[in-house]
Amino acid sequence: MPKQDAQMQRKVEHLFLAEKFFTDESFADFDRVRLLHNALPELRVNDIDLTTDFLGKKMSLPIYFNAITGGSRPSSKFNTELSRLAAKLNIPVSSGSMGVYLRLPEETKSSFTTLREHNPNGFVIANVSAKVNAKQAQTAIDLLKADALQIHLNALQELAMPEGDQEFLWMDHIKEIVDNVTVPVIVKEVGFGISQENLAQLFNIGVKNVDISGFGGTDFAQIESERNHELDLTYLDRFSLSTVESLLESRSYQNNLTILASGGIRTPMDVIKALRMGATSVGMSGLVLHHLQKYSLGETEIFFTEFIKQLKLIMAAIGAKSIEDIKKAPIIFDGNLTNYMKQRHID
Ligand code: FNR
Repeated sequence: MPKQDAQMQRKVEHLFLAEKFFTDESFADFDRVRLLHNALPELRVNDIDLTTDFLGKKMSLPIYFNAITGGSRPSSKFNTELSRLAAKLNIPVSSGSMGVYLRLPEETKSSFTTLREHNPNGFVIANVSAKVNAKQAQTAIDLLKADALQIHLNALQELAMPEGDQEFLWMDHIKEIVDNVTVPVIVKEVGFGISQENLAQLFNIGVKNVDISGFGGTDFAQIESERNHELDLTYLDRFSLSTVESLLESRSYQNNLTILASGGIRTPMDVIKALRMGATSVGMSGLVLHHLQKYSLGETEIFFTEFIKQLKLIMAAIGAKSIEDIKKAPIIFDGNLTNYMKQRHID
């Protein structure tokens, strides 16, 4: 690998800064949402079914490991571990941005292909920026024999980076990719959320799947401010949308778009609340990366085994035998969120 490649170095810094700023607390607003328990659940815990349709394929759980990394030596280790765990749990796993592969294929290839090698039959998602064209996107898909493609929207992150892009002319690229690649496309944010106005724009150009990836967990304004010692841009998160707000924003699109939710997922209750609010499946990056950085792969697996047990526990408590049943649980929003909904005309 070239020693001084700036893009590779950035990937390494992201991994370690995400861990530096990781906290168990979530700022995604799930604490402003309450689900009511069911005193008469009328079910057996053993009958609870967590299987989920993820873009047409049957997965064992309504969770996925969202985009994190690739293109550096530590990336290889994390991608290997993520894909092994995803294979065991039978959940989708995404690659980090493959832009660096498109630029330096030989040097970075194995840090991405490990995702497929250790998960030959699983659901693997390639990831590119909205700057690439359809041919480049297809190259990324082909490398991983990917089952889907994520296009990430990261304008706020780029603006916060000293070396970041200054041009955000993405709509034509997204449309070209959606129209031409061979797998389903998911357009995703990277932790600042997506508004209903943006959902309308995406829907109008033929996008079918959106990961609203809201504010509340990994914060790239904070991470890039730490990398860019001259500028403190942490105040930028003040105008991003939390994961819960983004889920509310998506409400009127949920019949037309598959909505995936991520951003600040910490507990099984966060997952259930996101599903209740219309997500088809719920993604995690910071949480799984934290476990893999702090603990062994075996210990991380134990953590997720317990996480899954607790998903069932909560489902039993709200009387839900299936993911579909979760959508029927009574839900209460606090005053801040009801005010938000009123101002944003969300019914
Ligand atoms: C990310 N994320 C990300 N997203 C993306 O689409 N392409 C990428 O290359 C990356 N890179 C990346 C690196 C690291 C270290 C982290 C932690 C995250 C964003 C990620 O997929 C997700 O949208 C946000 O992190 C919000 O989810 P969490 O981390 O709060 O669960």
